[in-house]
Amino acid sequence: MSLVTSKEMFKKAYDGGYAIGAFNVNNMEIVQGITEACKEEKAPVILQVSKGARAYANHTYLVKLVEAAVIECPDIPIVLHLDHGPDFETCKSCIDGGFTSVMIDGSAHSFEDNIAVTKKVVEYAHAHGVVVEGELGTLAGIEDEVSHAVGSYTRPEEVEEFVEKTGVDSLAIAIGTSHGAYKFKPEQCTVNEKGILVPPPLRFDILEEVSRRLPGFPIVLHGSSSVPQEYVQMVNAHGGKMPNAIGVPEEQLRHAAKLSVCKINIDSDLRLAMTGTIRQFFDEHPDKFDPREYLKPARANIKEIVRHKLRDVLGCAGKA
Ligand code: G3H
Ligand code: 13P
Ligand code: ZN
Repeated sequence: MSLVTSKEMFKKAYDGGYAIGAFNVNNMEIVQGITEACKEEKAPVILQVSKGARAYANHTYLVKLVEAAVIECPDIPIVLHLDHGPDFETCKSCIDGGFTSVMIDGSAHSFEDNIAVTKKVVEYAHAHGVVVEGELGTLAGIEDEVSHAVGSYTRPEEVEEFVEKTGVDSLAIAIGTSHGAYKFKPEQCTVNEKGILVPPPLRFDILEEVSRRLPGFPIVLHGSSSVPQEYVQMVNAHGGKMPNAIGVPEEQLRHAAKLSVCKINIDSDLRLAMTGTIRQFFDEHPDKFDPREYLKPARANIKEIVRHKLRDVLGCAGKA
């Protein structure tokens, strides 16, 4: 199988009440960890590349790593997607350079300017067989180089006009998730009977109103890492300092996946798994210096966390 677009994947996910995992890739071990899990779990997958990833690893290296995964995993559909494309030129470069899907993130612009740039990307992408994700509403946190101290929820009354005027294939909305490992401040949370901080619930009312206005249309959730506390503790036990790292509860993501959410973006959880594992390795083996020795367990833990997401959160295991 060669790289595919997300068109058919999203239709099946929508009808089947599950979501596709969109995982960020920056190097070979991350690509391998994700795709080995998807291969074993028979799950379709979206591998996404940010502007920062292209700057770090180089466009060609990332495309070739993903093409290698396609060869190694012939039985699962794989999408190569641009995450948070900041402008038309970046989207065009990825469309010309082998991506099958791009996101144009016009969420920092006015509604009118967001429509204009998104429409321009859609026209170019569709003429080249590539699908496009747009965004309405802003997530708090960091969207590549654009940092929003506070987010603004998506306004459901805007979504029909946006989708109709732009022709986008999917839409990212803001319902309370945010990027990174510090999604909620402790003062926003309540404390449960086990003494664990529980964040405020996502705005499912907004998601439901958006879906009512756009029946059958695939919705995307960014900022959907759950920030597993065992990895936060692993980081902190081995010299790290990540106080109050709090993510989105997995049950809420599972619920969203059963509704109209067809794509769920996860990056921070993989970073945590990799960093926690490597920190522990360095602490336990101060004499070792062969990168393969610490990258191997890091890759294995990325694989296991992705397997868990596919089976228990996204519901897409066995759907390839
Ligand atoms: O949405 C942001 C993703 O986690 C990508 O992050 O821009 O640091 O590569 P990055
Ligand atoms: P997290 O930081 O929650 O993993 O979100 C990643 C993301 O939305 C990438 O676009
Ligand atoms: Zn994002």
